[in-house]
Amino acid sequence: MTDAILNVDAIGVRFGGLAALDDVTFSVARGSIKGLIGPNGAGKSTLFNTISGNTAPSNGSIAFEGKRIDALPMARRAQLGIARTFQNLQLFTQQTVLENVMVGCHPRTRAGFVASVLRTPAQRREEREIHARSMAALERFGLANRAQRLAGTLSFGEAKIVEIARALVGEPSLMLLDEPVAGVPHGEVEQVITAIENVNRAGVSLLLVEHNLGFVMSLCDELVVLDHGCLIADGDAEQVVGDPAVLEAYLGEELSDA
Ligand SMILES: Nc1ncnc2c1ncn2[C@@H]1O[C@H](COP(=O)(O)OP(=O)(O)OP(=O)(O)O)[C@@H](O)[C@H]1O
Ligand SMILES: [Mg+2]
Repeated sequence: MTDAILNVDAIGVRFGGLAALDDVTFSVARGSIKGLIGPNGAGKSTLFNTISGNTAPSNGSIAFEGKRIDALPMARRAQLGIARTFQNLQLFTQQTVLENVMVGCHPRTRAGFVASVLRTPAQRREEREIHARSMAALERFGLANRAQRLAGTLSFGEAKIVEIARALVGEPSLMLLDEPVAGVPHGEVEQVITAIENVNRAGVSLLLVEHNLGFVMSLCDELVVLDHGCLIADGDAEQVVGDPAVLEAYLGEELSDA
């Protein structure tokens, strides 16, 4: 059996009368980049919310590194090593790029409330570490020269990469990326692909949602497909996109456009 970092088992989520997810089961292999695709409203972001702890499932269980996490609070899951980005850009536009990245160090910080108010040596040491770690992350993505700029002045592609940098400084072992190139101009997509490959090389497993199928196919080893809350395919990326059930259910149009 492959070594899974994440196991989603029979997850169901209901919003009133709507089954946003129904009996969804799949896993993410350690070290892999798995794509999560499906039409609008299929339940992709809801699934991310259920894994990261923003939404409680009504059925099923989720195991991360072999241990149940579905009853843990969001902050605890981040501490264990699950990081995510959101479908809509979530940067503080009036703060610098560096400050935005530093926010991501939070799950790993140790200094308590008293230390942070009194600015003890331990607190100052920790601040220096956070600063250094955040600069190193920006360097990793070739954005060190943007560190002191306001985040609102970045190009859209750069902003999406800064979000990835912010997720990375929390030292996750699993990163969930919700539409990392949605709205990114064509000319900047390659830069985002390089950034994600870079994250994966650093030992981070990834699950990513994206409508851009070319992007998905250039990054993902495996795909899982949702349609109306149900899992309709899971496996090798090329086999999945060639699966008649997937083509039939929703990919036909997008593929013929490609
Ligand atoms: N908080 C909520 N309350 C009620 N319904 C919700 C809520 N969040 C999502 N839904 C509904 O659940 C379904 C799945 O939504 P979700 O956002 O997970 O889809 P998605 O696959 O991410 O779609 P998209 O590709 O458009 O981002 C949709 O019908 C949506 O309207
Ligand atoms: Mg979504």
